[in-house]
Amino acid sequence: MSQNRKVLDVLDGKTVTPPPIWLMRQAGRYLPEYRETRQQAGSFLDLCYNPELAAEVTLQPIRRYGFDAAILFSDILVIPDALHRNVRFTEGHGPQMDPIDEDGISKLNADNVDRHLQPVIETVRRLRRDLPVETTLLGFCGAPWTVATYMIAGHGTPDQAPARLFAYRHPEAFGRLLDFLADVSADYLVAQIDAGADAVQIFDSWAGVLGETEFEKFAIAPVRRMIQSVKHRRPSAKVIAFAKGAGILLKNYRQATGADAIGLDWSVPLSFAAELQKDGPVQGNLDPMRVVAGGSALSEGIDAVLHALGQGPLIFNLGHGITPQADPNHVTDLVNQVRRFG
Ligand code: CP3
Repeated sequence: MSQNRKVLDVLDGKTVTPPPIWLMRQAGRYLPEYRETRQQAGSFLDLCYNPELAAEVTLQPIRRYGFDAAILFSDILVIPDALHRNVRFTEGHGPQMDPIDEDGISKLNADNVDRHLQPVIETVRRLRRDLPVETTLLGFCGAPWTVATYMIAGHGTPDQAPARLFAYRHPEAFGRLLDFLADVSADYLVAQIDAGADAVQIFDSWAGVLGETEFEKFAIAPVRRMIQSVKHRRPSAKVIAFAKGAGILLKNYRQATGADAIGLDWSVPLSFAAELQKDGPVQGNLDPMRVVAGGSALSEGIDAVLHALGQGPLIFNLGHGITPQADPNHVTDLVNQVRRFG
């Protein structure tokens, strides 16, 4: 039934040799064809809400490299945008939105969300129609904690201090925000699955700034709530959970959240990654800077990941998104080397 979709085979717990490969942020500014379509689209959010162009940029890295998975082109911040937080992406400033407070949290209302996100769901439909049959289509959303950090601060910060402080000062309101985001995000993932996504990834990019108690309350609990909700409604749904920077706290993350696979950033030691892989599939974890460097830094990093994790269920990926300064030819070298394994 997997139509030879290798990423799905790994998500079922199988070892596939060589391992399937895709890269976080594989559609992006390092590709000249992305930069061209991005220009045509206007703003970044205009691109996210244009099904034709969003599908086109999703397909670009598949055409160029033949990755085993395509990831829907969108952003985790379309959820706050659908919640009327006035999200903007301005050149050189990163994302910005109206910061939310206790009063704003009490007024959150999900009525507009489905309608607002219809163009993204339409992109998923087009992609499943236009992708090669063997390419796995991944949907995604942000984890409640990571999305909440942007909603509270109103912009990106180096350590998410505003959200951490808000959570200590206003635990009830903050808990309501996380539950609310978990519920709208679970609905959004179900809609992506119904439109043709084969599996989904939950990005908790800011999990690494949380202490142990807060990791349990703000990272694990809301992601568990989401995965339970999705799997209750779509029992065969597959979920990859990526808690960047969580380190040793990843030890029981898979069991505690119910994720099928866990994403690993490059700071996770390969010996620990191999331990985590005994419980199920892992995804990762090459340092994106090795792709910028190329040459032996790239090839040695790839060898180390394959040597440590290639004998078990592995989805080869970077430990975080590919950066704009990466050379597209280095990505060709990366794919070739992974495909020669085994
Ligand atoms: O991976 C893919 O190819 C799919 C598309 C995708 C984007 N963002 C496109 C994007 C995905 C999966 C994301 C997730 C995302 N967005 C995360 C979680 C993963 C991570 O990287 O930690 C986060 C935290 C965001 C929020 C966000 N979006 C930030 C902080 C920024 C600005 C930083 C930057 O790189 O400029 C974005 C913008 C963004 N999202 C771009 C892309 C291609 C670049 C904007 C542009 O093209 O002008």
